[in-house]
Amino acid sequence: MCGIVGNITNKPIKDLLINGLTELEYRGYDSVGIATIGSDNKISIIKNKGKIKDFANKYQNKSLQGNLGIGHTRWATHGIPSETNAHPIYDSDKKLAVVHNGIIENYLEIKKDLIKEGFEFFTDTDTECIANLISSFLKKDYTMIDSITKTSERIIGHAAVLVISEYFPSTIFGFKKGFAGSILVSKNNGEISISSDMQALGFDVGDYVVLEDNEIFLANSNKVEIYTDKKLISKEWKKINEKSELVTKGKYKYFMEKEIHEQPNLFSDNFSGRIDFVNKSISFIDEINKIDLRKFKRIHLIGMGSSYNACLLGSYWIEKIAKIPTVCSNSSEFRYRDPVIEEGTLIIPVSQSGETADTLSASHLMKQSGYDQLSIVNAKNTELDRITNNSIYMRANKEIGVASTKTFMSTLQILFTIALYLAQNSNSKLINNKLFDDYKNIPNYMNNILDNSELIKKISKKYSEYSNFLYLGRGYNYPIAMEGALKLKELSYIHAEGYPAGEMKHGPISLIEDKMPVFAIITDGVYLNKMISNIREIDSRNGNIIVLSNCPDKLDKSWYSDLINFDYTDDNFSPFLSTVCIQLFSIYIAMERNLDIDQPRNLAKSVTVE
Ligand code: M6R
Repeated sequence: MCGIVGNITNKPIKDLLINGLTELEYRGYDSVGIATIGSDNKISIIKNKGKIKDFANKYQNKSLQGNLGIGHTRWATHGIPSETNAHPIYDSDKKLAVVHNGIIENYLEIKKDLIKEGFEFFTDTDTECIANLISSFLKKDYTMIDSITKTSERIIGHAAVLVISEYFPSTIFGFKKGFAGSILVSKNNGEISISSDMQALGFDVGDYVVLEDNEIFLANSNKVEIYTDKKLISKEWKKINEKSELVTKGKYKYFMEKEIHEQPNLFSDNFSGRIDFVNKSISFIDEINKIDLRKFKRIHLIGMGSSYNACLLGSYWIEKIAKIPTVCSNSSEFRYRDPVIEEGTLIIPVSQSGETADTLSASHLMKQSGYDQLSIVNAKNTELDRITNNSIYMRANKEIGVASTKTFMSTLQILFTIALYLAQNSNSKLINNKLFDDYKNIPNYMNNILDNSELIKKISKKYSEYSNFLYLGRGYNYPIAMEGALKLKELSYIHAEGYPAGEMKHGPISLIEDKMPVFAIITDGVYLNKMISNIREIDSRNGNIIVLSNCPDKLDKSWYSDLINFDYTDDNFSPFLSTVCIQLFSIYIAMERNLDIDQPRNLAKSVTVE
């Protein structure tokens, strides 16, 4: 979703801002813009609908002078993606410009008041009321810090904002209210770099500070000051010690394709320090040292999208393996339903980006209520990290494909390992040698799927023209059916529903006909016979069935149209393998349809608005 950059520099400002924005491209966006202040102290803005490369081409001959600027990738919320609605946005006098992540919920009311005061509005954005509000307070002779403070107090919603102004041509201001993504401010030898994430800071060395809720900063080449409640505060500056990781596609055509193929190695990496295959034990000793997981009587997992699907499966594993009552919630629902949480509950928020607004709000609510939390995140130094103060990292490296694949897999693995860890502490008989042998073998089984993916490609081709799909699974593979449907929707824009197969007779069966293929995940275990009954019912109604199974010998070939099979394991482990198959199926269908695999339409990698 939207990304913010800002620079004060001796280098060419336009190129630097565009480079920063390119680093944020993975988040998803639909328009781009930058604003600079030249030596004449005037603001210049260039912006465009569409991708950064089109923006850069359009303005390749436009030179922007000066050494200060801000930039933005916008993911439209209020007003269509267009040059006019792209950020930066001027105030009505064109004396200041802002870039904004988030949503202002009371923008119409503010707009009405400002129009009465004589302000004009030229865009459909909620952001324009931030620019005009700051301007209205400046006109009333408030200082810039006071004007920003008053603006932040007046708006309802979430905002991460940068401001430049002709009145203070050497300074970038900014503020943060609620959860609309991070703002990191960094300094290095008189240069300033500001960004929504660490990767886009552009500095490999230097110090950085993270803006918190209700903080305002001003930065120029001499100083960076942070205020809260109009008071100057001192904050801890941290050393930048993460070299930006250069991510390439390698031999693959798409990042997502590469990310799917990285999973076996990542799976092995995620064993390290957690699973001791020699002594047959599980620990998080170097990771979870602020809380003792064994003291909790209940667990509540929260997440959105694929992270929610992972939570759902995690709740099955933790209950089944560790026998601890565990539920999961969609963060956006959880946040507003006044949740009643029992004492002794551990909250586990899951988010690869660590920036998902709904999950941040839900986690913040739990923090205010005093619950212990342990987040599972991929990106370090994110808002979720800071709220929960305890994190397990996915170790998935940077995921560029907007659709989650390897981060979903890492989340599953961490949740499974937590289940084993808790079971080990209650001396479960499950934690035996066979379990360790099976777990260790999962990366090999994943490689078997990837090495033989031609069959999945062939089947995907056959089904690439269909418009609707039903995904069915039971038990551990019900969340994978949900994830399969989500991946297909996201990548190929095909309508797909994921259901627990038991639900089929309660409504979805009316959809069954030959134009609605059913993707049934059938694994050996307690659900086998029930799943067989389900596909028999579909077959009796002329359904078109693709079976994904680890026990094809237990199925009759006449019951389905196509079969994708994967190695046999204990049912506990089957989701790791069925996941790889549903990912390949979706990506191959999208490739067949010639779609944008890494940046599907309308989607964002970091969803920073509720
Ligand atoms: O960063 P998060 O894990 O919190 O993101 C949650 C969802 O937005 C995300 O999983 C989304 O559904 C992905 N596009 C799934 O592929």
